[in-house]
Amino acid sequence: MRLIIQKDYDKVSQWAANYVARAILDFKPAKNKPFILGLPTGSSPLGMYAELIKIYKKGIISFKNIITFNMDEYVGLPEDHTESYHYFMWNNFFSHIDIPKENVNILDGNAKNLDAECALYEEKINAAGGINLFIGGIGPDGHIAFNEPGSSLGSLTRVKTLTNDTIIANSRFFDNDVTKVPKTALTVGVKTVLDADEVLVIISGHGKARALYKVVEEGVNHMWTVSALQTHPKGIIVCDDASTVELKVGTVNYFKDIEASHLDPATLLK
Ligand code: GLP
Repeated sequence: MRLIIQKDYDKVSQWAANYVARAILDFKPAKNKPFILGLPTGSSPLGMYAELIKIYKKGIISFKNIITFNMDEYVGLPEDHTESYHYFMWNNFFSHIDIPKENVNILDGNAKNLDAECALYEEKINAAGGINLFIGGIGPDGHIAFNEPGSSLGSLTRVKTLTNDTIIANSRFFDNDVTKVPKTALTVGVKTVLDADEVLVIISGHGKARALYKVVEEGVNHMWTVSALQTHPKGIIVCDDASTVELKVGTVNYFKDIEASHLDPATLLK
């Protein structure tokens, strides 16, 4: 696993966006060879989306031959609700780039048969040839997508009940009213994420420091589902200084030292 430590949230966002742009350019997507991108919601990736839009507007990358699969969606929230992940994605990213609507895949939390919707999603990912790069965030309890503590590390897309911790954390988007937060969600599984060729997780702020420590310095554990990234051949965490405060000084120095010899993806974009 690579651990990229940046000064602050803005630098994390720039690094992530440059990395994604570089991956797309290297892949050279075409109509018959689309790049398959897994995408998250939440506040962590917002800066990356803003940076990617800038890179797109400069004409460096296009999303015409990119197919996206989002990680998760609340159950029962109308698609046009301002807190639905459909709304989030179109508002913050898709409507600002040239991605064709039919290339966007987001789980339907209002499907009549939720289990069938989840099975179909896995089929669609497989039919597309699998995900080239899956980007994720992390909950304060170490979850990826909505794979709450105790989720099987071999899980696929399914319906999940949200924990109280997540409902409280996400209530900030629902007028701080926990009763307004949906109690269930559809989510890709830990295995769905790990099956991607590459996984990039964005972690920022003091609030995620304990989770980062658990994920990097402790073992693979279903109680901190992002820790499964340790088993991935190409897993990257990009984080800011604030989120590293629970790590040992030695760990921080170690990863900073190794990364010093890696080229910054910003340089590679020029
Ligand atoms: C939700 C999402 C996750 C996201 C997490 C953290 O639970 N399902 O995908 O990583 O929130 O969100 P934030 O980045 O806002 O802290």
